[in-house]
Amino acid sequence: MASESDRRGEVAAFLEGLERRLGIRHRGGDAFRLPVARVVDGGGLAGTVAAGRVRVGDRVGVHPAGVEGSVARIVAGDDGRDRANDGDEVTLFLAGDVTAAAGDLVASSADPPGAGTQFEVTIVWTADEPMLRGRSYLLRAGARTTVATVAPLKYRLDLETKERLPAARLERGEAGVCQIALEEPIAFDPYTANRRTGSFVLADRATGRQLGGGLIHFELRRSGNVRWQVLDVDKRARSEQNAQTPCVLWFTGLSGAGKSTIANLVERRLHALGRRTYLLDGDNVRHGLNKDLGFTEADRVENIRRVAEVARLMVDAGLIVVVAFISPFASERRMARGLFEVGEFVEVFVDTPLDVAEARDPKGLYAKARRGELVNFTGIDSPYEPPLSPEVHVDTTVLVPDAAAERIVGAVLARQ
Ligand code: ADX
Repeated sequence: MASESDRRGEVAAFLEGLERRLGIRHRGGDAFRLPVARVVDGGGLAGTVAAGRVRVGDRVGVHPAGVEGSVARIVAGDDGRDRANDGDEVTLFLAGDVTAAAGDLVASSADPPGAGTQFEVTIVWTADEPMLRGRSYLLRAGARTTVATVAPLKYRLDLETKERLPAARLERGEAGVCQIALEEPIAFDPYTANRRTGSFVLADRATGRQLGGGLIHFELRRSGNVRWQVLDVDKRARSEQNAQTPCVLWFTGLSGAGKSTIANLVERRLHALGRRTYLLDGDNVRHGLNKDLGFTEADRVENIRRVAEVARLMVDAGLIVVVAFISPFASERRMARGLFEVGEFVEVFVDTPLDVAEARDPKGLYAKARRGELVNFTGIDSPYEPPLSPEVHVDTTVLVPDAAAERIVGAVLARQ
C-alpha cells in the first residue's frame, strides 16, 4: 500500500494538472489543518501539517465530529516544540479528554473546515475503464478513506474549450462535474481554499487501485426532508442488482398482427435467460387499469399515455418491459419514446399487412367490423400509422413467430 506521503504526492501532481487545464484560481488557505494519520501512545495525534500553523495553547477542533479542545503539547521526533508549521510532521496532544481517530482532521477553531457527506465535485478520470454513475468507489481525502457513490454527471468539461457537454460517463483523461455521496462524513475545505483538504482520490473498491481524483466545490446542504433521491435506491442500483440494462420493447402493429404471440415468445426467452421482465399487453391492461377506455381516438391516446407511464416506472424498476399495444398513432409513440432515456426505447414494428391480419382474424373482430358491429376498428375505420424507422422491423409474412422473437431478443441482448 502506498504511504501517506506517496499518496499526497500522487494527488498533488494529479491536481496540479487538473488545476492548470481547468484554469482554476486558487485562493490558498492558511488556516491550520492537520489530517490525523495515526494516534500514538498517550493519545497523541500524528500527521503532517497540511496548512497553516499551530502553537501550544491554540484552540482547535477535531473534525468531522467538531469537538473542541486546545493544544497541550506539540512533539516533533523526540523534541517538544511550541509551534508547528505547514509541512511539519508532528504529534499533537490535546488538553482534556478530546479524542480523535486516524482519518480525522484537526483544524483551527477560528477557521474551521466544513463537514458533510454530499458534495459537488469536479472529477478527472485516469483509468482505462470508464467512470460510471451510480458506481461506488473508495474515496481518500486527507487521511480518511470512505466509500463514495457517484451521481449522474451534471456535465463533462471539454478541457480545451471549457465547454460543458452532456455525458453519461467519463472516459480516461476526461473531467466532469457531478455530485457524490459518502458513506461517512469527511471534514473538508473547498479546493479553492485548500488544495489538500479540498481534494480526493477515487480508487477501486476491490483492488484499491487509483482510478481518478477530484476537487470539492461545495457541500450540498440539503434539509433532512429533501432526500437526494438519486442516491437512494435508483434505476442504476436496481438494474445492477438485476444484472441487466432495462429497456422497453414497444410493439406496434395492427390487431391480429401477432404482437401478443411474439411478445409472449420474447418474454419467455428472456425469462429463460434469467432476465427480469414484464409484459404489458393491450387486451390485459384494458381489463384493469384502462378498463374505462374505449377505442375513440382520445381514448387510444390516453390508453397509450398510461401504459407508457407504467412502462417507464417498470424500466425505472430495472425491468425489461415488453409493451404490446396497437399504438396506432405516431405521435403517441413519439410521446412514449420521449419518456425514456436514449437507447431505452426499442420500437418493434410487427408488420402484418391488413389483408393478412384480416384473413387470420384470430378473434373474429375484423369480420364484426366489416359487418358494422364494431366501430373505430383499426385498419377499417380507424387509421394505423406505421412507424417509419423502428429499431426492429419484423415482417410476419416472411418470419414465423419464433424467428421474429429471436431477432427481437437479439436486439435486447445487444443492449445489455
Ligand atoms: S390501442 O389502439 O389503444 O393501442 P390496444 O392494443 O389497447 O389498442 O387494444 C387492441 C385490442 O383491443 C385488439 O387486439 C382487439 O382485441 C381489441 N379491440 C376491440 N375493439 C377494437 C377496435 N375498435 N380497434 C382495435 N382493437 C379493438
